[in-house]
Amino acid sequence: MSSSALAPLLRPVVALPATMSISDVADRLLTAEHKAFLSLPVVDDAGRPLGLVSRYRLQDIFMQRFGRDLWGRRPVVDVMNPEPLIVSLETGLEEAARQITGQLQYPITEDFVLVDGAGRYQGLGTVLDLLKAMEVRVAQRNRVLRRALTELRESQTQLVQAEKMASLGQMVAGVAHELNTPLGYVKNNVELLRELIAPLFELAEAQAALGDCLSAADSDGQALARALESAAQARDRVAPELLAGDLEQLFADTRYGLGQIGELVVGLKDFARLDRAMSEEVDLNDCVRSTLVIARNGIKDKVEVLTRLGELPRIACAPSQINQVLLNLLNNAAQAMERFGRILVKTWAEPDALCLSVQDDGCGMPPEVLKRIFDPFYTTKPVGQGTGLGLSISFKIIQDHGGSIQVASEVGRGTRFLIRLPLTQAASLQRSA
Ligand SMILES: Nc1ncnc2c1ncn2[C@@H]1O[C@H](COP(=O)(O)OP(=O)(O)O)[C@@H](O)[C@H]1O
Ligand SMILES: [Mg+2]
Repeated sequence: MSSSALAPLLRPVVALPATMSISDVADRLLTAEHKAFLSLPVVDDAGRPLGLVSRYRLQDIFMQRFGRDLWGRRPVVDVMNPEPLIVSLETGLEEAARQITGQLQYPITEDFVLVDGAGRYQGLGTVLDLLKAMEVRVAQRNRVLRRALTELRESQTQLVQAEKMASLGQMVAGVAHELNTPLGYVKNNVELLRELIAPLFELAEAQAALGDCLSAADSDGQALARALESAAQARDRVAPELLAGDLEQLFADTRYGLGQIGELVVGLKDFARLDRAMSEEVDLNDCVRSTLVIARNGIKDKVEVLTRLGELPRIACAPSQINQVLLNLLNNAAQAMERFGRILVKTWAEPDALCLSVQDDGCGMPPEVLKRIFDPFYTTKPVGQGTGLGLSISFKIIQDHGGSIQVASEVGRGTRFLIRLPLTQAASLQRSA
């Protein structure tokens, strides 16, 4: 029985036989050991509970005129409640609490009867004990919940970080790939330059020898002819009429490649202003431009990106976060393409807000997808491709900026995200910083 969840509630009160007189019961209720109980159980010969007789009921009777004389000798069954609260000891604590509190009548004038599996009386339980036990249980559960909440928050932070790393990883892979191309041909060009220049040294040497020959007092005609001949050959190998053009071309290509590498590096640097605080005065168009430099590489096989950037006042925001939102929207748009498509990024200013829209002509979304896209972990992409966190993080970022993010989409036609960043909010953020 001790394994029962209700065992701590069990008070082994001796039950009354049905035939016991009401007076005797009243006397028993007055003894010290029964003082804690609101009622006493009555059982039949087989030990099954018949009912409960409550202190209040007896008081009621005895306070009537001649109550004790009229009722005292009658058997207790006459005044008991024949439908007491009965709970099996096999019941769990919470189920018992549910049963009992569900049937409680106020004011509380009765205890409840605990029975074994066979329905035999085992003892009494009091509502007070039950409530105390529940309180302990609730406190325990709260502790567990609090711990779960902390763990959930931690894992959420980790997931947000993971999504950030995933999109950064994609981006870095794209940038690395893009750096590789100009790096490759700059390297080739340098190699070619070395090869093209080598005959120039030979020519210089041959001409120096020719010069020596001419200026030497004792040189004969044969030696001079030889020197002239090798100088001419060296000149042929150099082919200066072609070399100039080739060199020009090589240098131009190399300079272009280095320019591209430089542009990417600057883009990366702008994009990754991770350590700079919120409330910086930023030109949103710069965010768009630097994110595009970075994102374009990863998505240009699938889409052409067009921009229409309007004149904007500077705004206080966290640029690295805004970049993250933009990168998310661009990646999503590229991933929504069924064939080579187009993304249009627009910015414009309204009197009280800056607006930015990202519009694609991809697959679009049906309403049932549309209404869930900002839910954390909601993704329609295969495992490994989508975390379902991009938009929920973006939503949070825009919300933190006091802005809004809206979406309109039509299956087969495309999707448009519209972000509004209020200028006043930005101003107050700036002040608070
Ligand atoms: N531009 C878009 N076109 C079509 N569907 C989109 C677009 N952007 C988002 N979605 C839908 O919203 C879902 C959630 O997006 P997101 O939160 O970025 O998670 P993920 O990209 O990892 O799936 C995507 O799985 C996709 O179904
Ligand atoms: Mg996404």
